[in-house]
Amino acid sequence: MRIRAGRESDWRRVTRGNAETAWLSFASRYAPAIPVLTFRARARRFDLRLRADGAARRALFVAEDELGYVGHVWLEERGDPWSLERYTVVLTLYVTRRARGRGTGRRLLRRAYRWGRQLGHARIQLSVAPQNTAALALYRSEGFETFLYGQTRPL
Ligand SMILES: CC(C)(COP(=O)(O)OP(=O)(O)OC[C@H]1O[C@@H](n2cnc3c(N)ncnc32)[C@H](O)[C@@H]1OP(=O)(O)O)[C@@H](O)C(=O)NCCC(=O)NCCS
Repeated sequence: MRIRAGRESDWRRVTRGNAETAWLSFASRYAPAIPVLTFRARARRFDLRLRADGAARRALFVAEDELGYVGHVWLEERGDPWSLERYTVVLTLYVTRRARGRGTGRRLLRRAYRWGRQLGHARIQLSVAPQNTAALALYRSEGFETFLYGQTRPL
């Protein structure tokens, strides 16, 4: 397995992975429920908008094995409005089902650290749904800590 910079031709797979990841994280919260095809179409439009928006520096890295694409990490540089610190945000980390449990997620994450360090960042941040036990275990084992709890309630 190797990790390389993303290319234009990767976006079809990347967008599908982004939609699956977002579905995993958010779909159970939607009431009324959204049909999965509608969700995917909206996720695709969201990605297109973000890709067209040049306001932030972003990077895409893709993992592939002998059969092709197995996952990606999509990154964005953000700034803290108060401290003015610049830091790395993981927009999506995704590994295909067939390739999970082989260290790909961890390697993609470590590629993300390298990107951030090259930009002079001292910190990386991401959001994860509380029911996503695989991702939480990965992040914990990589030294991530919770610094903010998002709260919600029905109105
Ligand atoms: C989360 C995800 C990226 C992990 O990718 P992966 O390539 O399978 O992860 P790795 O093989 O690198 O595993 C690294 C560590 O994560 C943890 N882990 C991974 N899968 C796990 C599982 N199913 N249950 C518990 N822990 C798990 C383990 O600590 C593992 O370390 P170990 O193998 O030394 O025990 C992958 O499951 C995925 O793409 N899920 C769907 C999308 C998603 O949830 N993305 C994250 C959104 S925040």
